[in-house]
Amino acid sequence: MSRNFRVTLIGCGSVSGNHLRALNNIGNNTVVALCDLKPERAEAMREKYGLNSKIYTDYIEMLDTEKPDAVHICTPHYLHCEMTLEALKRGIYVFLEKPMCINIEQMEAMLEAERNSTASVNVCFQNRFTPSIVRAREIVEADGGITSAFGSLFWERDEKYYTESGWRGSYATEGGGVMINQAIHMMDLLIQFGGKPISLRANIDNYHLRDVIEVEDCCSGYITHESGLHTTFYATTSAKGLWCTDIQFKTANHILEVNNYNLYVDKEFVDTDESSDYAGKACYGNGHEPLIDKFYKAIENGTEMPVTMESAKWAVRLLLAAYKSHGQDTEI
Ligand SMILES: NC(=O)c1ccc[n+]([C@@H]2O[C@H](COP(=O)([O-])OP(=O)(O)OC[C@H]3O[C@@H](n4cnc5c(N)ncnc54)[C@H](O)[C@@H]3O)[C@@H](O)[C@H]2O)c1
Repeated sequence: MSRNFRVTLIGCGSVSGNHLRALNNIGNNTVVALCDLKPERAEAMREKYGLNSKIYTDYIEMLDTEKPDAVHICTPHYLHCEMTLEALKRGIYVFLEKPMCINIEQMEAMLEAERNSTASVNVCFQNRFTPSIVRAREIVEADGGITSAFGSLFWERDEKYYTESGWRGSYATEGGGVMINQAIHMMDLLIQFGGKPISLRANIDNYHLRDVIEVEDCCSGYITHESGLHTTFYATTSAKGLWCTDIQFKTANHILEVNNYNLYVDKEFVDTDESSDYAGKACYGNGHEPLIDKFYKAIENGTEMPVTMESAKWAVRLLLAAYKSHGQDTEI
């Protein structure tokens, strides 16, 4: 990359290290400022990643003072829309953590704001860019697409995960539970491989934290895609001690399985050089760096964002349909 971008980041919590390590590794960017309501978190990240960034607690002040080329938004879900609108209004490119937003009104406002801005938004669906998924996609495309797929996610998120965050576990601030937070990547991949979804029949429940969170900790569903294809999924964060995401795709010639970030084709392990030196939790994978690299290349070359809001919105529409569904067919 030849251009030096002036970069800022809002929200110096769990995932921010994945962004800052990627920014250090891809080079030729200057992280001019970090913002967090808790400045000690921003200071800790500045120190850990060897940055000279200024620290802010007010993101509007940071955007107006620093006038950056780009801002990475790594804040609680309910703030994604507001912060994206403020950046777009100022012509600042946005690298936005998932989920894009928590309701349809926000989605429409964000798409409208992007149409009226000189800048654009990339949503962080980094799993599209991990080596195992990239390889699986090549095989599927060579086989003419999938004929069926299912996804399952068995993770544990305990009481402390919710109570210590100050924002998880409530519809107003997280927007939902396992679907909007953990399974959203799996939903996006089912859509990437299966095509645009048009309806969903789903059931949600709260198995293990009934007195702690108001949102769901499990969901099962049956998706109908525009092509007529059906895919199914099951997701829960009540699986004590487990981290297992498993997606299986069937093509005319093969059965592919991506289990955590390992690819198997017809039950044979395929080495895709997935590194286990993760920047953050293992479940975040290795996709942040290739996606962030593509984001800055797209700005530099004036090309489309690698994960546009138009393509990312379907996963949100799908999970909002799951919240409405209660065993009925729901339009997406
Ligand atoms: N892509 C992935 O795989 C992945 C993984 C983890 C988290 N995430 C997403 O990243 C986002 C952040 O998640 P996290 O786990 O890092 O959360 P976190 O709670 O650890 O961090 C959020 C940070 O935002 C700060 N914050 C809150 N309101 C703010 C405001 N108004 N101004 C400035 N800072 C503010 C908080 O103080 C906190 O430090 C969420 O959207 C989450 O879903 C994505």
